[in-house]
Amino acid sequence: MNRTAVQVSLLDMVMCVSRTTDLISPVVADHQKRVAYLAARLAGAVGLDRQQQRQVFAAGALHDIGALSLSDRLSALDFEVQHTALHSQVGATLLRSYQQLAPIADLVLHHHTYWDNDKDKKAPLGAQLVHLADRIDVLLRHGSDNCLLLQVDSVCQRIKAVAGRMFDPELVEVFLDLAREEALWLDLQPTMIDIVLSRHVNHDNVTLDLEGLLSFAQLIGHVIDFRSRFTATHSEGVAATAEALAEALGYDPEHCREIRVAGYLHDLGKLAVPSNLLEKPGALTPAEYATIRSHTYYTYRSLEVVRGLEQIAGWAAYHHERLDGKGYPFRLTADELGPEARLMAVADIYTAVSEDRPYRRGMERDAVRRVLQKMVLDGALDGNIVECLCDNIARVEEARVTAQRQAVKRYEEFWENVNQNTYIYRNRSISS
Ligand SMILES: [Fe+2]
Ligand SMILES: [Fe+2]
Ligand SMILES: [Fe+2]
Repeated sequence: MNRTAVQVSLLDMVMCVSRTTDLISPVVADHQKRVAYLAARLAGAVGLDRQQQRQVFAAGALHDIGALSLSDRLSALDFEVQHTALHSQVGATLLRSYQQLAPIADLVLHHHTYWDNDKDKKAPLGAQLVHLADRIDVLLRHGSDNCLLLQVDSVCQRIKAVAGRMFDPELVEVFLDLAREEALWLDLQPTMIDIVLSRHVNHDNVTLDLEGLLSFAQLIGHVIDFRSRFTATHSEGVAATAEALAEALGYDPEHCREIRVAGYLHDLGKLAVPSNLLEKPGALTPAEYATIRSHTYYTYRSLEVVRGLEQIAGWAAYHHERLDGKGYPFRLTADELGPEARLMAVADIYTAVSEDRPYRRGMERDAVRRVLQKMVLDGALDGNIVECLCDNIARVEEARVTAQRQAVKRYEEFWENVNQNTYIYRNRSISS
């Protein structure tokens, strides 16, 4: 098969994460997209250069990435949300770990910092713009019954009332000037927002090669995994297993790296699932079960629109499909499932049953083998791939265990970092 070298736009990837995290509830639908747009328009109006505008745009699109649970997301919608909001610290700590996005970490860190509380002037202008854009959007009522143009006056009044306290009065003046443009508000409507944003994304001049994409995918893996201490290293384990398995199957090195990318992204759609459902002890209601099962659907829809990721989208998202057509969500059959998707299904199950979780030890090798072989007999998994895994189990296990050990360290360091900076103790340890 002929494959072309991976080239993906950074902003396309940023928007992919932004979109998926906004799927968590209809209440926050498109919120980060609108903030990205408003913040970029404000950045243009204050005269920031193109590069700075791009950063403000990306920070707007990811500003609530650190709100890992649904309640964190919803509490960020209070107009007077505490300015030291924990989710700003979590988001900034996540972004700082990825070189290409490190410059926007400070913008996210200060996106709830009040102007009159920032005596040392720590909040960069970009952060103030995201803050203002964010608060404008939370004041707006969206939906077909609410005309945005009729809300402009009241939004302007509310923002004016907090000038000098929440926001720099000069910035508020810039906003009030911009607010006169009807198109600014009409652009925020559903559908329209996608059209106006695609202009920004299409003009992105930063592209990621395979290694750049790999680090970005690893960051996304952390955002997915760190939401729950029960699965804090799962994506890392699947990524390492999938790559080791691809090597054992004789794939070329580049192909193996692409498989690893798909491993990091396979549960992307879990960002659209409230974390309390992922952690619920006890039986799930039919509705909760349906929500959890929809995660692979969202993985697919979120990734397929990223130019350059069309193939990887399928490899990542079909991991709950089965060769006998009884999997989900597309009910694909053996002739529609390529080798990479089959491999990912094996890597996901192998990792899920072998990894240690806070509430149980992972299965021993023999038990793992029996589980996988039974699934082959049942018509779920590919027999050749399972055989290859069983023949190379020591090698694959080593890759998985090493990757997950490093991931535990990163997870602990991550929360230590966040806690140190916020002085808020949260029991996030995964060793308990
Ligand atoms: Fe926020
Ligand atoms: Fe927000
Ligand atoms: Fe999954």
